Amino acid sequence: MHLSYVLLILFPLYNGLSTTCPRRCNCDSIQSVQCYRVLQVPREIPSTARRLYISHSKIRHLQISDFSRISCLEELILSCSGTESVEDNTFKALRTLKILELWKNKLRRIPTSLPSSLEVLKLGDNSISVLHESDFEGLKKLRVLDIQNNLILAVSFSTLSSLCSLQSLTLDGNNMESVSGPLKLPELKYLSMENNKLHSFSGSFFAPLQHLQFLRLTGNLLTKVPLNLPKSLLSLKLERNQLKIIRFRDMKHLENLSELFLSENQLSSVDGAQLLPNLTTLELSRNHLQTMPLRLSTRLQKLDCSNNFIQRVTAQGFQDLRDLKHLFLDNNTVSTFEAGALHACAQLSNLALEQNLLISIPLRLPDTLARLDLKGNDIQDVGERELKDLKQLQVLNLRNNKISALDRKVLENLPRLRYLYLDGNPWNCTCDLLRTRRALMAKGTDVRGGQCAAPAESQGESWMSSKKILQRCEDHLSSAERGKEVRKKMKTDDLSSEGVNMDDDYYDYEID
Ligand SMILES: *[C@@H]1O[C@H](CO)[C@@H](O)[C@H](O)[C@H]1NC(C)=O
Ligand SMILES: *[C@@H]1O[C@H](CO)[C@@H](O)[C@H](O)[C@H]1NC(C)=O
Ligand SMILES: *[C@@H]1O[C@H](CO)[C@@H](O)[C@H](O)[C@H]1NC(C)=O
Ligand SMILES: *[C@@H]1O[C@H](CO)[C@@H](O)[C@H](O)[C@H]1NC(C)=O
Repeated sequence: MHLSYVLLILFPLYNGLSTTCPRRCNCDSIQSVQCYRVLQVPREIPSTARRLYISHSKIRHLQISDFSRISCLEELILSCSGTESVEDNTFKALRTLKILELWKNKLRRIPTSLPSSLEVLKLGDNSISVLHESDFEGLKKLRVLDIQNNLILAVSFSTLSSLCSLQSLTLDGNNMESVSGPLKLPELKYLSMENNKLHSFSGSFFAPLQHLQFLRLTGNLLTKVPLNLPKSLLSLKLERNQLKIIRFRDMKHLENLSELFLSENQLSSVDGAQLLPNLTTLELSRNHLQTMPLRLSTRLQKLDCSNNFIQRVTAQGFQDLRDLKHLFLDNNTVSTFEAGALHACAQLSNLALEQNLLISIPLRLPDTLARLDLKGNDIQDVGERELKDLKQLQVLNLRNNKISALDRKVLENLPRLRYLYLDGNPWNCTCDLLRTRRALMAKGTDVRGGQCAAPAESQGESWMSSKKILQRCEDHLSSAERGKEVRKKMKTDDLSSEGVNMDDDYYDYEID
């Protein structure tokens, strides 16, 4: 009671509004109104409103009279409000409406007689099951149509043929089993039909889309890459399908294709991606690869072959990959890594080799590496030779290997090292290891050291922070060295405490 009285006094002053802002609404400016928890479209919305946002409300039915006073609306977003039905012609008189979003409601069909001014229509997360040609009649300005997560089982694209300006179409998550053409959408740049049940497309289904740049078909039942894809394509997503084979010959007209995502399929070999001259990203994670892909595109910058069954890495596959920056080979069965195999990759900054069967750090890795991940291998020794050229290395992960000793000289050659993961190794906490600890502290590297496995009296001690080991080795250290140790000690203790994000699985691979 009191509050509304105050509002009544205040609102006429507010931004020069002549009417009051309705209850449960905010009127940011004369033109923009946001309402929450309302039971109908509020009657007192200023007739000047251009943008109306309603969410988390309960409005089962929309009708013509809801909008008759606010016919200048340009943007109407009504979401999460349980709306089930819309009276015929409700939006027809909104002749300036450009954006209509009715997502997360319970609509069973597309509202009728939408105004021809409409540019964006989003109806995701409803219960729409059928698209009618009449739903889209006259929408010559519509650029964006999003009907994801509805109940559409089949689409005949001819129903969309009046959408001559459509640039972006999203039909993800509909359980669609079939689609049929012809696809007459001359301006379409983005088409997404992820997470449906599509198993094939007729021969030239996509060919008419002469401006298509992004095609997303992840999460379907495709056994083949669709044929005759448009030449304009830049990005093709086909993850989580049932591809067993990929024939780059059928794709070689895709001269501008830059990203190809094929993870989570059943590919056992990949050969000839070089036919795609502009390919920069190739993702092949979680397939059945037993060998590295052969004859790759020379412009490749990112290659993801993680989670396969690759055993050997040799120079053969990498000779021409001069632009490669990111190489993911984690979780394979790599036991052989030829010395200098990546020598030609003079831009490589990120190499993921965790969860493999390596018994030593590969020799002659590119000196451009910023991040090297060798977690979970069988490495026992870390020699000076393997790391000495890695002047750019910032992150080195050797967690969960079989390393028991680390000479401090190994680290002297790594001037930029910031993070070092050494835990999960059977450390022999000798006084030599303590010297390494001191060298690391002096460098200011953030270290996860882990625990001693030997000698018996130090078992379970954390070797980067234990005072016990320090005392035991006192005789070995000069007094000057001891002083240094004490001064730096606090820092390491801080690092090993909670709160510092040293989680090595946090992965920002664009490191500089
Ligand atoms: C490929 O990209 C270039 C440069 O953006 C563009 O001029 C050309 O038209 C594109 N080719 C096709 C087939 O779309
Ligand atoms: C694709 O490659 C050709 C030559 O190989 C080049 O002329 C063209 O600009 C490239 N397109 C893009 C988008 O990079
Ligand atoms: C490692 O790869 C195998 C084979 O693709 C996969 O089944 C497994 O889930 C992966 N493990 C992890 C931790 O990702
Ligand atoms: C630890 O290192 C010491 C000194 O090098 C050596 O004598 C001892 O055998 C090593 N212990 C283990 C378990 O490797």
